[in-house]
Amino acid sequence: MRPPTGSCPCSGRPAGTARCSTSRSSSIASPSTTSSAWCSTRTRTASGGEQGGRAVLSGLPRGRALSVDRLKLPHPLVWKLKRWLDTEDERRLRESTAVVHEFVDKYVRLKRSGGCTSSGGDLLSRFAEDGTRTDEFLRDFPLSVVLAGSDTTPAAITWFFYVLSSRPDVVDHIREELRLVRARRCEPGGEAFTLEELREMNYLHAAIAESLRLHPAVPLLPRVCAADDEMPDGTRVRRGWTVMYNSYAMGRAEVIWGKDCGEYRPERWLEVGVFQARSAFQYPVFHAGPRMCLGKEMAVIQMKAITASILEGLDMELAEPRGKHDLSISMRMEGGLPMRFRERRAP
Ligand code: HEM
Repeated sequence: MRPPTGSCPCSGRPAGTARCSTSRSSSIASPSTTSSAWCSTRTRTASGGEQGGRAVLSGLPRGRALSVDRLKLPHPLVWKLKRWLDTEDERRLRESTAVVHEFVDKYVRLKRSGGCTSSGGDLLSRFAEDGTRTDEFLRDFPLSVVLAGSDTTPAAITWFFYVLSSRPDVVDHIREELRLVRARRCEPGGEAFTLEELREMNYLHAAIAESLRLHPAVPLLPRVCAADDEMPDGTRVRRGWTVMYNSYAMGRAEVIWGKDCGEYRPERWLEVGVFQARSAFQYPVFHAGPRMCLGKEMAVIQMKAITASILEGLDMELAEPRGKHDLSISMRMEGGLPMRFRERRAP
């Protein structure tokens, strides 16, 4: 997803999130998951400051894109050969990885030495304190959280807004829910919805779940067999084989979702107005079993918060036709999603 372009001429806030009375086009903004949350300002300065942070912000997506290019090759031997020959893309991948590792390693060293000013109650501090984890583990742990969350949620929101742009009935329904949640407030509060209020939004939850069913952010999930095994249907798999399931196809399978499987229908997730989760084994959008997504609740709340604040204040329409898939690890939209926002008039 592309970052928002420019800022609102009225407020100076980023376009797409600002309440702006002029109609204008912008790409949907992504919620950023940055490393700054791990530690305080003092640490940021000590670990390379803004410059280091900027290098990481460009190194991370570049490294990810180059890694995805490796996956597109017909056989792993090809990139191994390219790495041995030190081709341009392999060199760039090595450099991007080094920038990111250097940045995170500094945080890890600070955590180990107790030089970080955060409370010490975060997971990384706990791992660092227990003394049994290697530096490599401590570096990969926060990186995997940042990588897992930084591409998926923006991809999911992009497709959700794409779906909403052709379903004014669903938008109306969401707005009605927002109105009721606001009306239930005992005391007038701030503009932003509270966590509790976001949790009460059953219809919005259903609309998001239904969008993810048809447009899962992680469409293919491969696993490599650790040992010879047999699948429940009797299919034998050998050690080293790759087994992959396709959550995109599962989300559109008639056998799971019924005859209307191709239809976007949030109501299928509601019973007497209350959101009903499906088995993760039928709906593996966040994977299923012990390695299920750790950020699932956070992702849904983020999506609710962003959608609620945008739909409450702004009308939107697609600025250009879109909807093609971008081949990557997560299912992004080719070219981002340019949208035009206009301040809503009171109904
Ligand atoms: C709509 C948004 C998201 C979707 C659809 C999603 C989906 C997934 C999926 C399918 C996996 C399994 C991947 C695999 O094992 O190959 C996964 C793992 C993971 N996700 Fe998410 N995710 C989302 C957002 C997030 C966010 C916001 C975070 C954290 C801030 C996060 C953290 C993680 C982590 C740490 C794992 C690895 C869990 C493990 O291996 O034990 N995810 N996610």
